[in-house]
Amino acid sequence: MRVLFLAWVAFADCKSSVNRHEIRKIPDGILFGTATASYQVEGAWNEDGKSESIWDRLTHSTPCPVKNCDTGDIADDSYHQYERDVEMLRELGLDFYRFSLSWTRILPTSFPDKINEKGVEYYNNLIDEMLKYNIQPMVTLYHWDLPQKLQDMGGWTNPHVVDWFTDYARIVFELFGDRVKYWFTINEPREVCYEGYGGPSLAPLYNMTGYADYMCAKNILVAHAKTYHMYKNEFSKIQGGTVGIAISANWFEAESEKEAEAAEEARQFEWGTYINPIFSKNGDFPAVMKERVAAKSFEQGFFRSRLPEFSPEEVELIKGSSDFLGINHYTSKLIYRNASLTSDTYPSPSFYDDMGVMSYYDSTWESGVSSWLKIVPWGFYNLLTKLRTDYDNPPIYITENGFSTYEGLEDDSRISYYRQYIDAMLDAVDEGSDVRAYTAWSLMDNFEWLQGYANRFGLYEVDYEDPKRTRTARKSAYVYKEMLRTRQLDYHYEPDTTLPITIDEGH
Ligand code: NOJ
Repeated sequence: MRVLFLAWVAFADCKSSVNRHEIRKIPDGILFGTATASYQVEGAWNEDGKSESIWDRLTHSTPCPVKNCDTGDIADDSYHQYERDVEMLRELGLDFYRFSLSWTRILPTSFPDKINEKGVEYYNNLIDEMLKYNIQPMVTLYHWDLPQKLQDMGGWTNPHVVDWFTDYARIVFELFGDRVKYWFTINEPREVCYEGYGGPSLAPLYNMTGYADYMCAKNILVAHAKTYHMYKNEFSKIQGGTVGIAISANWFEAESEKEAEAAEEARQFEWGTYINPIFSKNGDFPAVMKERVAAKSFEQGFFRSRLPEFSPEEVELIKGSSDFLGINHYTSKLIYRNASLTSDTYPSPSFYDDMGVMSYYDSTWESGVSSWLKIVPWGFYNLLTKLRTDYDNPPIYITENGFSTYEGLEDDSRISYYRQYIDAMLDAVDEGSDVRAYTAWSLMDNFEWLQGYANRFGLYEVDYEDPKRTRTARKSAYVYKEMLRTRQLDYHYEPDTTLPITIDEGH
């Protein structure tokens, strides 16, 4: 662990603390909600005609790759308990709920030749129940549960996935677009591609970094853009919705002034890969990435860059293909370029070898249960400021932000995280960032991928010992609710959690 963080503290062009406002008005116009994702909450993994996804395959494999051998077979049982889920949304007084659709529940063959009515009925029920109470559905088409059949054909590394995905999206727009007005095509392409195809930390655990992650990146961006244009050309006139993407962007801060270039390269590689092609004026992957990967590839004896190119038509197709920028933000890291970084530091070829920087967490940063999740609210401010200045102030939806704890209803650390991060976000808003929505991850505890149920992100606790998967409001739920009710951030508000959390009039 590096201890050279003092220089960074004095760094002039970065804000190392956010203005803490004890009481702060939240501007009207920012929508507030919570999020979940299909595999993480639905359960019913093989019920009513649903077929196998890559997470079903992974969690059922031996030896089990998930902590405590947890699976999403039952998860939070939301497939049977959607009414209770909507009741919780009403208790919190939310404007919207962001959830995702399970491709294999809607299209069991993966393709549009067979639509599973039972699966469609589940989503119809959920959407209608929410709309009854004026809670807007914000729907993610793909939150990581690819049909296993498509994976068997290469999944996101096969260019045909562009057609597979747009066909699925067409069916979804036809089925639900009369009522859903907010769409996200893909959740966290960086995690899908890097963690799933580059590294071994999300399904399908491909572990082929330096090739598969880049092939995935290209295909995912083309699939996203084609879906966006399909919506605009064929659905938007009648349905009137808005379409974007949810990109994970943590903040990468230079350890000291001399590391500014290294930190910028980390940002370009980590999220510029996905944000640049859509939101920058020139489109395409970041220039530094194209040059670096090409140069390294030739040095390594390849005949062409391992980073696939976009054709000029694809650059044009992808450029501007989002009505807003969805951002999932959780934490920050410090960056430096190690003079002694050699070809042995990272496997070569690999994404990290191509990027060529080192990162670490400041040892003074407080942590959640997830070791990667350090509390760094000023990183959120810096990120929003950077997105505003570099990408011409796009409309931003914060599609995820949240904190993990162990079990227990008294979650003061989560409350502190939310207050500080929302405060930091509002600093950026005061300076002109166009933030339109804020989403707390998560409505309730759920299947945290390879961490199973050990890391709890919920405003509501879920009892996994109970077959009914009873949900109980944590202290943070009371605080979030009060913040939205009063439209005021108040560091001193202490809820009376002996009283039940109830539905206010009008919700
Ligand atoms: C982002 C992912 O979208 C979500 O599925 C996950 O649970 C959270 N990060 C927390 O790790």
